[in-house]
This record gives sequence, C-alpha cells and structure tokens, in this order.
Amino acid sequence: MKTKSSTSQLVVRNLVVSVKTKHILYGVNTGAQSGDLLAIMGPTGSGKTTLLNAIAGRVQSTSGEITMNGQYFNKHLRRRLGYVLQEDVFMPSLTLYETLYFTAMIRITESVSLKDKQTRIDDIVKALDLKKCLHTVIGDFFVRGLSGGEKKRANIACEFLTDPDIMLIDEPTSGLDSTTAHNLMNQLKNYATQYNKTIIATIHQPSSQVYHMFSKLLLLMDGKVAYFGKASEALNYFERIGMPCAIHFNPADFLLALLSTDDETSKKIHEEADRHKKFENVCEQNPLSNGQHSHVNHSYINNSDADNSKAGLRTGGSAVSFDDVCVVGIDKEETSVHSHHAWPTSFWTQYRMLTWRQFRQSKGRILHKYEVIESLLLAVLGGILYFQTDYSYKTLRDKMGTIFFSVTYWGFNCMIGTVTGFPAERGVIKKEREAGAYRLSAYYAAKITSDLPLILITPVLFYCIIYWMSAIGDGVLFATFLGVNLLFCTVAQSIGHIIGTAMPDMKLSLKLVNTYMLFSLLFSGFFNTHLPDWVKWAKYLSIVHYAFGCLNILSTEGMPVLWCNTTSAELNPTCTGNTTIITIADVLKDSGIDCPYFCYTASLGILFIVLRVLGYYVMKWKR
Ligand SMILES: Nc1ncnc2c1ncn2[C@@H]1O[C@H](COP(=O)(O)OP(=O)(O)O)[C@@H](O)[C@H]1O
Ligand SMILES: [Mg+2]
Repeated sequence: MKTKSSTSQLVVRNLVVSVKTKHILYGVNTGAQSGDLLAIMGPTGSGKTTLLNAIAGRVQSTSGEITMNGQYFNKHLRRRLGYVLQEDVFMPSLTLYETLYFTAMIRITESVSLKDKQTRIDDIVKALDLKKCLHTVIGDFFVRGLSGGEKKRANIACEFLTDPDIMLIDEPTSGLDSTTAHNLMNQLKNYATQYNKTIIATIHQPSSQVYHMFSKLLLLMDGKVAYFGKASEALNYFERIGMPCAIHFNPADFLLALLSTDDETSKKIHEEADRHKKFENVCEQNPLSNGQHSHVNHSYINNSDADNSKAGLRTGGSAVSFDDVCVVGIDKEETSVHSHHAWPTSFWTQYRMLTWRQFRQSKGRILHKYEVIESLLLAVLGGILYFQTDYSYKTLRDKMGTIFFSVTYWGFNCMIGTVTGFPAERGVIKKEREAGAYRLSAYYAAKITSDLPLILITPVLFYCIIYWMSAIGDGVLFATFLGVNLLFCTVAQSIGHIIGTAMPDMKLSLKLVNTYMLFSLLFSGFFNTHLPDWVKWAKYLSIVHYAFGCLNILSTEGMPVLWCNTTSAELNPTCTGNTTIITIADVLKDSGIDCPYFCYTASLGILFIVLRVLGYYVMKWKR
C-alpha cells in the first residue's frame, strides 16, 4: 500500500479568475512541493477560497496556468488532489468509522486490498488522533455527535484516505480553540513531512506557534499577491520595504494588520510586489521553464500571460529567496500511472456502498419511531371509524372513504418523506461528486434501491391494520390491494424525488408537494361526481385517481346490482328516466372511475418507470 508520495510540485502562474464582470484574482503566482505546508493568508474576501477552488478545478480560471509536475490538470490528475472544504458536510446518521469505511471503499481503487484499506484507516485515525470518537455518530443540528474540532479532523481524514499528493484545506482552524488549532496544524505538518505530501491551507488568524510551522506563505490582498515565499522570510521582506514588525509581535497578526490597513500601505505593498515581478519566479527549475514548455496544451492558457511569465523567469530579479519552491527530478511516470482510470471503483462497488450508506442514513428518518407510531395510530383510527362496514350502496361512500383516506395519507407521507430527506444529503453528494468519487447513475440506482424497503415497511403495517379492521376484503384481495398501494407509494416517492432534486429550497419543494397532492385529491374522483366536461381530463394527472380508481374497482367487485326504486338509489345520478337497475360500475363511473382496474395498475407502472427515468435526468441537469 502506497502512502508515502513521490515528489510532486504544484505551480500556479499568472492566475486570473473573474466571475461575470467581477475580477477576483489578478495574476496570482504561487507554488508548493512535497513536504511543504503552504499557508495562504489574507483578509476576508481577498480571494483565498477562490484560489483553492481554481486549483481544485471547481472554478474556471480566466487565464493563467496551474500545473502539477509540469502537466496541466485533467480529470484524472485531479484525483491526486484532495480538497477539504471549509464546511464539514457529512451524512449525520453515520458514525465516524462508517464514514471512513465508506470513503475507503468507494474512493480507494479496488486494487488495494480490504486489509490495506483498513490499515490506512487505522493509520489516519492515529495520525489525526480520532480514536476516541471513532464510533460516535457524526451528528447534526438535531443529534449531538462529533465536536467541531473532531468534525474538521474527520473531514481531513476522509480526504487523506484517498492518499492525495496535494491536499487543499480551506480554513482548517476556523472555529477551533487555539490548542486544538495548534494540535491540528501540528498533525498536518507531521503528515506532510512523514508522507511527503503537499499541504496548502488557508488560515485566518494563526498563533505565532502555528505561523512558524508554515514552510511557505502566500499573502493575498484584494486578489493580488502581497508576498509569496518562505514563511520565515516574510518579516525580513516587509522590513526591507520599510514595514518592520515589532519584536515579540505575532507575525501573523502583524501581516494581517498590514494587509488590512490604509490605502497608502496597500499601494506600497502592491508596488513592491510589482517590483518583484509579482513573485512570478515561482519555480526557477520548473520543467515548464527549462525548455519543456512546448508539450503543454496551450489552449488552456492565455498565451500572452504565459509569455510574460517566461520573460519574468529569464530576467529573474527577486531580492528574496523564493527559489526553492520547486524541485527537480519529478517522476513523470508517477504522474501518468494514476491517469488511466475514469473512476476509482467499479459501478457495482459504488452502487453497493452507496446503497449501504443510503440505507443507514435513511433508516433513522423513515423508520423513526414517531413515524411508525403515527402510521399505526392512524391505521387504528381509520379502522375504528370504518369498523367492519359491509358492502352496500348505503355504506359505499364509507368504503370509498377508507380507501381515499389511506391513499391520501401515503401519497403525502411518501412525497414529503422523500423531499425532506434531501437537505441532509445534498451537500454531501455535491462534495463527493465534485471530488469525482462516483458516477451519478450509481448514486441514483442506490438511492432508489435503498429507500424502497424502508418506504414499504410502514405502509404494510398500516394496511395490515386498516384493511382487516374495516373489512375491505378477503386474503386474496389483500395481496393485490397491498401490491397496488406499494406501487402507488413508489410513484409518490418518485415525484417527491423529482421535486426535491429540482428545487433546492425545501420550503418551495414542500409547497409544490402540497399543491400537487391537493390537486391530485380534487381530481381523484372522491369529491366531485359532476366534473365539467372541459376539465375531466385533469383526473389523468392525478396519481391518487389511479390508485383510488383501481382499489375501488377491486374492492367492490361482485357487489349486486342496485334497483333504482330503492331509497339508497334516490340520490344516485345514474338512476334517471326509465332506468330500473344500475351496477357498481355505473356508480363508480359517476366518480370518474371508468377504466378496468388493470388500466389503472398499468398506468401506475408506466408512471413509475417514466418518473424514475425523468428523475435521473433531472438530477443530471441539476448537478
Ligand atoms: N461566484 C462568485 N460570484 C461573485 N463574487 C464572488 C464569487 N465567489 C467569490 N466572490 C467574491 O470574490 C471575493 C473573494 O472571495 P473568497 O475567495 O471567498 O475570499 P476569502 O476566501 O479570501 O474570504 C469576495 O469579494 C467574494 O464576494
Ligand atoms: Mg474563504
């Protein structure tokens, strides 16, 4: 198992990033090599996160170049980068160990044995001092779990597991107390040295002790480089340009204060940076600068910037020693060895692991004890209300009421359950997909599979109670009845899934679910037996209508004909003129139920397939 990286170097030259018309980074030059801990400091809004995003390929650069070992980043090379975002987003119901296990199984290639993956987890847990909380749930706003510091280390551990050569970490110490921050930075520094990794971290306000751990420092001010070079040289540099730091002053505080002072000082700092050619001699021995530039795909870069950069390199001229940012002897083969596979693991492994995690994550939510108790109570309530009613034309509305009540409850429940399950996982999926951890199709297939048994168990319990209490039918009908209901639940779930994916705002998603379900109820056939002709077609858009229609046909099968001279027929609109008898089919027709039951079942089946396929494309569109 490989954990000690071969030497690699990252070089950023003349990087310009603009979003719409706003310039964020102006010609940033920086770089780092294996074993380095490069700190990026600067006031809020100076462009630190944007720089990390650009390196990680999550933000498109306007011009400039970012290379690793002299090669431009492509999808495969980017897998050698790990990126720890500032927000620690996890599946909250999983324990730390489960989270690490999942990451190891899905993001470490299958050529590494299970035993080696386990060893890697153990090593990282030890290196980041996470043993104490290994079996604690991650937790969230509602459930207490890992502390802030532990979550941050867990986030870093997940990225370390993939064994990246270069690790980008956004604000690892923000929100941590000074001792925890110091310990974390110490662990990162040790890790970088021990395993020959490059660590690039944005740091807000490091203590002096933490500051002295940095090997290199990049100071950003308004998107421009104010200083880049050895951290130990920064104070000398500023002293030389007439900005000395008082003795015993925390260098980080001093530097941050400098970058946030008046316009006069800012102007002077920028002028000095320009005099040092914006620190563009990032890497004098960089393969790009010693004649190998030609193999690089120039279409990625702004040529004039690249030429300027080369000109700067030739003239050199820096008064400060930034020269050893880069190293020689880069193993080019190492770079390409990793470049073959589109995904770290096969579709099957991704599907299996995602199903496993999805099941664990949703279990707590869908099979929550309150959910189960609510379903059982409502089933008993419905059962009492319609207790052992017989099938007659007098009690037909009651019978239809039982079915309407059940279908409505499960329509709402399955849709709302799916929509409300999204926020917890949306951030995690986004983060993992951006890191290229798995295929969207594997995630989608896993989500469908894992939610199925969970969304079906409570409805079965519900129907076991209400069906027998309200005497809907016999044992044979029960199986069919259950089957149609479960199919209906999956259709409702599919709609919930599409709405949840298409609308990131949960409030809006819930509004849409409510609107659609109320529409669906209005046109189900239960409420309105005199629909105007021009709007009758709307029932085909109602999923409740399909289930309601089908279940009513099934349960009333075999009911005798109704003589129109009986009192129960008085209000029946079908008993008009000379009609003497009507059948149950005529009565159901008044509610708009005018197709055979298998038409309704087939429609639900087709809807299920169409909505599932649509769900995938909506997800692809919204990613
Ligand atoms: N997508 C974006 N659209 C518009 N402005 C952005 C975008 N991303 C970042 N910015 C702006 O760019 C500047 C730098 O942001 P950022 O890189 O997050 O700063 P830092 O991490 O140093 O606090 C900020 O002024 C921010 O508002
Ligand atoms: Mg930031």
